[in-house]
Amino acid sequence: MSNVLVRGGAKLTGEVAAQGSKNAALPILAATLLVKEPIRLLNCPRLRDVGNMLHILESLGCTVYRDGNDLVVDSGTATNFVLPTALSRELRSSIFLLGSVLSRFSEADAPYPGGCEIGNRPIDLHLSGLRQLNAEIVEQGGRIRCKGANLTGAVVDFEYPSVGATENIMLAACRANGTTVIRNAACEPEIVDLQGFLCACGFRVKGAGTPTICIEGVKTGHGTSYRIMPDRIVTGTYLIGAAITRGDVAVTDTRPDTVEALLSKLGACGCTVTRYERAVRVAADARVRAVAFTETRPYPGFPTDLQPQLFTLLSIAQGTSVVVENVFENRFKHAQELKKMGADNRILDRTAIITGVGRLHGATVTAHDLRGGAALMLAGLCAEGDTLIEHAERIERGYEQPDRVIGALGGTVERQG
Ligand code: UD1
Repeated sequence: MSNVLVRGGAKLTGEVAAQGSKNAALPILAATLLVKEPIRLLNCPRLRDVGNMLHILESLGCTVYRDGNDLVVDSGTATNFVLPTALSRELRSSIFLLGSVLSRFSEADAPYPGGCEIGNRPIDLHLSGLRQLNAEIVEQGGRIRCKGANLTGAVVDFEYPSVGATENIMLAACRANGTTVIRNAACEPEIVDLQGFLCACGFRVKGAGTPTICIEGVKTGHGTSYRIMPDRIVTGTYLIGAAITRGDVAVTDTRPDTVEALLSKLGACGCTVTRYERAVRVAADARVRAVAFTETRPYPGFPTDLQPQLFTLLSIAQGTSVVVENVFENRFKHAQELKKMGADNRILDRTAIITGVGRLHGATVTAHDLRGGAALMLAGLCAEGDTLIEHAERIERGYEQPDRVIGALGGTVERQG
């Protein structure tokens, strides 16, 4: 899916089931190394990032296979603590493996993940947390070498509630000696899902979803079967699709509580939002209204992973909106692409001022990153004419078959080789 053509003008209508969450699946896959028995995962999305994580697990010696819709990972056969360089660089979340590889083998050797399109993305909080659990870490020649024969519980107080660092420390602490308390932990629903998985394996973790997580170390866990939570960012993206095309979309098999920050914005824009127990429906029959102020924040604040898609919606709204990106320093690359489609926006450091235009027009644009690419796909759907998105393979890092999902809702996204 390196280029896609998006045909403008259709109203998205109908029902779509949310896929399993990528950001829950990745740390859970890392966690499979903590037990030597087979793990069966239900609802694990088929995505490039997940595929890369599975290749890394295989390179460590794990046995991985699909059984119908389930994914089975057996790390009983794992022997290797050195993460492969190329694959790990491609998948930033391979950094989650530090904690679990270290716990399993008392040693871990990983390439430095480096920066990415949305910002510098340092890993200082991951490393300082692991050091507090008594790991010895040497950073040398672009690699991180960790030793931790005697991981010991500690109080880890994060100065910022990093999602990845919270997950990494949870993984390292499960089999450590004694109790670990994480303070100022991230509260994202994916962390609650990781806790659910770890407890299903017999580990003792509580408090996820609050800023204080407590992990009592136990020597071994056991195999289990676990269903991964629905993807709240994919849910939100297709709901914005309804709003932006003046359509009517219900996302089913999802958790409305996890997209509340978005739903309140869509309500403020003038959309009709209906919450069900495991579904959400958004309908719009007119041009949406601007939203005066939105800022991204850690959960339960407005998610940075939906900022580009909301940005696109506000680009066609009536009036002027202000969006502040607090989480990543370089996450407005979609702004310049939207301008090629006739959008009116100005970026001042981390603040975007968006003046809604009546209609976008088709153009050739570039997906610089995963969520920015999804935002351009939405822009293409509501534009006049066709939009060609280059590097659209980036969208498939997080969306399962977006062309088919949008096709089922009445839109057209065509792969171009
Ligand atoms: C996770 C999500 C990503 C989402 C992000 C914020 C996964 C696989 N990815 O990424 O989709 O956008 O949460 O909700 O779950 N930081 C540091 N030092 C560190 C770690 C982070 O300064 O050691 C900074 C980052 O540069 C960034 C901010 O903290 O500015 C948030 O990062 P973090 O919460 O760690 O995000 P990720 O876990 O990388």
